Amino acid sequence: MYPMLVNSRNLFFGAAIVLGLVASGPVHSFDDGAEVTIDYRQGLMRALGGNMAATAAIVVDGAPFRDNLSTHTRYIADATVDIPALFPEGSDFGETDALPSVWEDVEKYAELSRESHEAAVALHEAVEQGDDAEIMAGFRTLGQSCRSCHEDFRRRD
Ligand code: HEC
Repeated sequence: MYPMLVNSRNLFFGAAIVLGLVASGPVHSFDDGAEVTIDYRQGLMRALGGNMAATAAIVVDGAPFRDNLSTHTRYIADATVDIPALFPEGSDFGETDALPSVWEDVEKYAELSRESHEAAVALHEAVEQGDDAEIMAGFRTLGQSCRSCHEDFRRRD
């Protein structure tokens, strides 16, 4: 009998912990999936930022990690393949810096996403071909494409 009691007590505490977590969550009725979606896309965006910074250190400042360059540009090309998919309906409030325009001006958002992805693919190809002038030009075009989207679709600090 005793082990049974321990088990049901663990179950009780388990349930209490789960309820506690739910109770301390956001006040508005917030689809659970939206919060993790926002966490995920912000993490992905930070990874884009990190890979851009690493790329800049190599191609602009000459950091001696040229062998890693294609790892960074491949990530950027892969991760930008469908940015709008990271912004589903219902993920427009809570801890997000995405502006309402993301869900209002869907076509422009998709277009800027596509431009960024194309710039990233072009940069990655230039890296694969080892063409320094193309790499520098591609890096600048890509950086500009990130900024263009943030200007219209991300809240400024
Ligand atoms: C099509 C639009 C779009 C493009 C292109 C885009 N971003 Fe973003 N980015 C956003 C939006 C919207 C947010 C805010 C997301 C949120 O807070 O939910 C964001 C957030 C960020 C953040 C902050 C993440 C955080 O910690 O909250 C960084 C860093 C970032 N982007 C880097 C980049 C880089 C680097 C590129 C280009 C390689 C890029 N982004 C391309 C729309 C875009």
